[in-house]
Amino acid sequence: METQNTYNYTVVRQFTVMTVIWGIVGMTVGVLIAAQLVWPALNFDTPWLTYSRLRPLHTNAVIFAFGGSALFATSYYVVQRTCQVRLFSDKLASFTFWGWTLVILLAAISLPLGMTSGKEYAELEWPIDLLITVVWVAYAVVFFGTIMKRKVSHIYVANWFFGAFIITVAVLHIVNSMALPVSLTKSYSLYPGAIDAMVQWWYGHNAVGFFLTAGFLGIMYYFIPKQVGKPIYSYRLSVVHFWALISTYMWAGPHHLQYTALPDWAQSLGMVFSLVLLAPSWGGMINGMMTLSGAWHKLRTDPILKFLIVSLSFYGMSTFEGPMMAIKTVNALSHYTDWTVGHVHSGALGWVALVTIGAIYFLVPKVFDRDQMYSIKLIDTHFWIATIGIVLYITAMWIAGVMQGLMWRAVNADGTLTYSFVESLEATYPYYTVRFLGGLLFLAGMFIMAYNVWKTISGAKPASATQSA
Ligand code: HEM
Ligand code: HEM
Repeated sequence: METQNTYNYTVVRQFTVMTVIWGIVGMTVGVLIAAQLVWPALNFDTPWLTYSRLRPLHTNAVIFAFGGSALFATSYYVVQRTCQVRLFSDKLASFTFWGWTLVILLAAISLPLGMTSGKEYAELEWPIDLLITVVWVAYAVVFFGTIMKRKVSHIYVANWFFGAFIITVAVLHIVNSMALPVSLTKSYSLYPGAIDAMVQWWYGHNAVGFFLTAGFLGIMYYFIPKQVGKPIYSYRLSVVHFWALISTYMWAGPHHLQYTALPDWAQSLGMVFSLVLLAPSWGGMINGMMTLSGAWHKLRTDPILKFLIVSLSFYGMSTFEGPMMAIKTVNALSHYTDWTVGHVHSGALGWVALVTIGAIYFLVPKVFDRDQMYSIKLIDTHFWIATIGIVLYITAMWIAGVMQGLMWRAVNADGTLTYSFVESLEATYPYYTVRFLGGLLFLAGMFIMAYNVWKTISGAKPASATQSA
């Protein structure tokens, strides 16, 4: 009980529980839009259930509600444990929880109503953008205030990654959201034409780099060594990893705009920095993996470790694939196809969701003062269902994507197109069905998790005494 008084676990508990809930909500919408691509009638001819409105609801819910809550929960936990002090301010921390929850609810209402700024991953209209800024500044004050009053002189590397994520997301959000409001629910970007596109993808790519990567690397650097029971493989490598990663990501954004009106040199710059990005990404992955050296056997019996280590394998895979897709000639094939969607979800489900799930299973017993999760067996079941779901999702999208790219560029001897667009769509249907099934499996795993978390919190006796791995 002593730690409960020393540290602020209330806010960690709130964000931990909401991570599971928002995960289920966001992925349910994901499964629904995956189903709509197979059975379009599932929009029931209702404007707010159309694909175009639900798709941004899905991306916002999984990235900012599920991923965001996971980052708040873990960063608040890690910064307290590694600095050995309570959060800088309980009131401000509580404000970040309620403020963030309000942002999510406003998103869940405004997006289905069709209110959007039209910028991917930054769709929310200006009043909500202002609220995000206020909450984020409060988050920065709580996080860095805690670091300032720390009791240990050293700042553990996980905090460097969390800190970079917090500062960079603030800068990205403010610069990309600059807009001229014309009413309470409509605004137009301050930037014109190609500059708007450049700013948008500088934001978009760094949202991947700092929201979906740096923050989750903070999770990796704390929870993997903890779960293995050994220090990180190389602390020196982690520092090199940090500086190399944050200084490279910033320049890679133009790979989202190959063959567009962007100046050619900017496109090539984006390609080169994307290729360079492979090195720090893999350096980080290897650092996490090698932490297991001498303790590989633990992977057999510890499903939480399975989640954490397999997430790193997916991280390695998507950060190999990304640089390849950034090569202009490869991008000429992959862009606009489902290959991109496959790449996204090998990162989003394989890396972001799995590392989050591993961290949540670690956190729940700690912050709710229980010995262990209710059922270790159910964690293992979750692991396998989730992994099979991901593999079905991403392989379906890879095959579909390459097939679409090849069909679109196929030409007859007389120069006419071999296939119409509709033919390529027809050929894609079976893969959309497989992706839907993969998504359904992944979602089923989330429900298993919710049950296990619920039983643990409500104090049910562990399902079997022999299960303590
Ligand atoms: C070295 C690391 C990476 C590089 C160089 C990279 C590169 C790329 C490239 C070239 C595209 C396709 C752009 C297009 O044709 O439109 C892309 C799309 C995307 N990637 Fe990555 N990627 C990396 C890692 C990741 C990771 C780890 C994640 C997720 C956690 C991720 C999430 C995304 C998303 C969400 C998109 C789609 C953006 C959109 O069009 O909406 N990437 N990435
Ligand atoms: C049950 C799990 C999930 C399912 C079934 C699912 C399904 C989908 C579908 C159908 C799309 C639209 C693709 C298209 O327009 O062609 C999509 C897009 C997207 N999803 Fe998911 N998703 C899931 C989980 C996640 C998670 C956990 C994340 C992030 C952490 C995520 C991030 C994204 C992103 C960034 C896009 C936009 C991709 C792009 O623009 O290229 N998804 N998802």
